[in-house]
Order: sequence, then C-alpha cells, then structure tokens
Amino acid sequence: MVSSPDPRWWQSGIVYQVYPRSFQDSNGDGIGDLKGVIARLDYLVWLGVDALWLSPVYPSPMADFGYDVSNYVDIDPIFGSLKDFDRLVAEAQKRGLKVIMDYVPNHTSEAHPWFVESRGSVTSAKRDWYVWRDAAPGGGPPNNWLSEFGGSAWTWDDATGQYYYHAYLPQQPDLNWRNPAVRAAMYDILHFWFARGVDGFRIDTVHHLFEEPSLADNPANPDFTPGMAPTLALDRRHQYDQPEVHDALKEMRAIADTYGERVLIGEVYLPLDRIVTYYGADLTGVHLPFNFHLIGAAWQAKVLADLITRYEALLPDSAWPNWVLGNHDRARVASRVGPKAARTAAMLLLTLRGTPTLYYGDEIGMTDGAIPPEKVQDPWEKRVPGFGFGRDPVRTPMAWTAEPGAGFTTGEPWLPLNDIASRNVAAQQTQKSSLLALYRALIATRRKEPALSIGAYGKVEARGDVLVYERHHGARRLAVILNLADSAVYTPLEGAGAPLLSTYLDESHESVGPLIRLRPHEGLIVEVSREA
Ligand code: GLC
Repeated sequence: MVSSPDPRWWQSGIVYQVYPRSFQDSNGDGIGDLKGVIARLDYLVWLGVDALWLSPVYPSPMADFGYDVSNYVDIDPIFGSLKDFDRLVAEAQKRGLKVIMDYVPNHTSEAHPWFVESRGSVTSAKRDWYVWRDAAPGGGPPNNWLSEFGGSAWTWDDATGQYYYHAYLPQQPDLNWRNPAVRAAMYDILHFWFARGVDGFRIDTVHHLFEEPSLADNPANPDFTPGMAPTLALDRRHQYDQPEVHDALKEMRAIADTYGERVLIGEVYLPLDRIVTYYGADLTGVHLPFNFHLIGAAWQAKVLADLITRYEALLPDSAWPNWVLGNHDRARVASRVGPKAARTAAMLLLTLRGTPTLYYGDEIGMTDGAIPPEKVQDPWEKRVPGFGFGRDPVRTPMAWTAEPGAGFTTGEPWLPLNDIASRNVAAQQTQKSSLLALYRALIATRRKEPALSIGAYGKVEARGDVLVYERHHGARRLAVILNLADSAVYTPLEGAGAPLLSTYLDESHESVGPLIRLRPHEGLIVEVSREA
C-alpha cells in the first residue's frame, strides 16, 4: 500500500466512458456520432475528467453495436469519418484530454473480409484465422461450450461442412490467436491508431482470447440456478483465462510502450485473484485490468471494506489499482443502489486508491430506462428474452436538457429517452447540490489532493453501516467516511479536522468530542491531523 512516486496520467487521472451511439447526435439520425462527441468535449473539461474512452466506432454491421468489427482501420459512417476522428483527437489534445479507443481482438464481425475469406473454403489461406472444427463423431457441435449470449458457441457452416466457434454471437466469429498471422494483423491495428495519436486502448474481453486447445467439454457449474444467464450453466474453465493470453498481452504491451505514455486497459470478467494476473509477470501485461467487483458488490460497509482490502492484498507489487462503478453492459449504479446511495457511491469511486472509470450519465444519476418490447435493440435480450439481460436500459441517450430530444438529437433517438425531465445536465448545472455538482466537486477535490489521487491507504474498516478509510500522501491525511444507512449515525474519528466535502454539498456538520455525526447516506472527506 505505498504511494506512487511518479504517477502517470492514467494513474492520477479519471477515465470517462462515452458510448458513442448515445452521447451526442450531430446530424439528426437519432444516433450519436463523433462530431457530437467533439461538441461535448468542453463538458468533459468542465466536469474535470482526464480521458475519454470511446466504445467501438469502427465499421460494423452493428449486430452487437460495434463490438462486431468489419474493418479495424476506419470509422463507421454512422459515426463519421477518419477525418472526424482525427479532429476529435486534435480537439481533445487541445483541451488536455486523452482519447482511449476500444480494441476488439477476440472476434471480428462475420462480415469482416478475413472471415468472408476464411469461410470461403476449407483450403482458404485464412481458414486457420478462425476456430473451425468438424462436427462431433455422432454429429452436432464439437463440444458443449456455450455462447455468452445464449445457445451453443458453435455455428454450422453448410457450405464448408464445419463448425466455427464464437464466444459471443454467431455474427462474431472468434479469431484464432494461436495463428501468428492473426497476431501480426491485429498488432498492425494497434500501430495504426497509436500512430494517429490515440492515448490507449480498452481491450474487449481479453480473458476470452484463447480457448483450451483440446476443446474438452466444460463441467457443469454447481452454483447455477435458474434465472442466471444460460451460459453460466457450465463452468467455463476451458473456454477462457488460458495461459497463452499473457503472451499476447505482453506483445501488445511491448507495442504500446514504443509509443511513450500510452495505456492498455483490459476488460477481464473474472474473480479478483484471476484479474490481477492480467497485470502480467513483472507488470508486462495490461496497465489496468478492469476491476468490476464494485458493480456486483452488495452495498454494505463490511462487503465493501473486505473487497477493498482483498483487492489491495492481491495486487502485485507496484501494480496500479482501478475501480469501475458502471458500464454499457451492467445495470446503472443509481438503479443498483438507489438515488441516495448513488451519492456515497460517487464519493467512494472518486476517493478509492486507483484509476476510476465513470460511465456517461452516471454523473447525473441516470437510471436503467424502461424499454418497450418493440424498441428492444440488444441482441442478448433478443436471444434470451424476458430475463432482464438486455443492455438497452443502460444505453439510453445522454440527457443534456429537458427539451424534446434531450439535447441529444433533433431526430428520433435510437433508444427511448429516459426520464429526462427529472434528470438532465442543464438543470443539474444550475442546482447547487445536484449529483452532477457533487461529481464535479469530488473530481476537483481528487485533483487537488494527491492523498486521494495517488496516496496510500491507512486503515480500511467497516463500523456497522459506516465505511471508513484513510488516504495519505506525505504529511497530508484524509479520512473518507461513508454512511451507507438511511439514518444518522455518530462515528469516532481521532484527530478529525474540518470536513473538506460532504455528499450533501453544504457546510453543515457536527462533531461531538471525537464523534462525527453523519446524516442519512452522507459521505464526508475529513482532514485528519498528523498526530492522530
Ligand atoms: C464486451 C463488451 C460487450 C460486448 C462483448 C462482445 O463484454 O463490453 O458490450 O457485447 O464484449 O464483444
């Protein structure tokens, strides 16, 4: 738990995820685009974040809304052009913002020319670029593996009489990362965008990059209960988290390192003790393997204290932590914990040790939107309807204003707008104690206080419903005290000075001797004197 001596921008900074379809539309087609993002860069500067991560903007048939890429070195016309992208990078740079792209190496779109060629014939030069197998001896798929989005992970190709493997949709065939030509082609893409000035990549579903070569059947998952995603019926041990992934990440990292201070962030949905292996031996893997464990955590002080302590204990020496409260695949934080706890959640995210990633709209408390059946877009919901797996609710357009179109579009939005009258940026910019004002104040405080951005932890503890931890840097010590209960509490704090910031955004606070009073769902950042 040491302070970082020489922080990089991706350590001290804050990442903001833009889901481009839903951020800002500039041409009235109801879908966000790059010109729209450019128009909102000043908002990101105002908010105070350091980097924006753009979910995929490459040409794509949009079977999985851009996570099915048909050309890695261009921009889909829905989003604009390469010229727009270059302008976005230039405009971001002008404002001191970093740009992180999404890199989707596990699979392409079925429309990618590589796959078209691969499926052309069993003797195609690109046949081995994907994972093709004969049917099982008695017929049917080669093994029992399941797709993340429901159904078999194998699709039969009638023309060539074999199955191909897809961890996700049939429209997203998996690349064969054991083929050196695939690796070389995928690395060219990193060079292409690094040379264009991007500051890093968020790497999609890295744990899925390799499968176990014998293709052994997966065992049943003893913890499966009905209602869980169908893919969880099996323990997917042979389908992901294979040792070779670390060689590939090391190669990607070596490329990133030749471009100076760039960052690689890995999307790794695994238990904490597996996530930390993605830093790589001697930290030669990704800089930041995403830690999603706050998203699934029960919102209780003890659970959160244990999570923080366990994660810190598992981190390899000098590895930099990170925390995520929401993204385009998971329920929004305001829906998970409720609007009151969303304020303490914001304080938690922005005072923990490690790079925070914020999901667009969470700063105004956007909730999961209701999507009528005829408006469903997400392929997961379409394949496995009715279980609530659909991700449309968390992808509704950014609510900029309360006007028709929410300031997002002048056309018909691709997903329904979500309660824009009660939550929008324009209104919250004028309200002194809005959630947006709180995010902005927290970000400013984190920037000003190295104890928060790069400092070490003191004690992390749960006291009933109160989560308390200390952060320090040099002589500066700050305590973060979060009351997760809906009633007021008193908690002791030795050496307590004046609160720097309350989630209520007012000056009212009360100390009785060494006891600090917290209002329902109040979070406080408090100075602590050195002697304490
Ligand atoms: C990642 C993305 C998700 C996508 C999947 C397949 O989990 O975040 O949106 O559907 O990969 O590419």
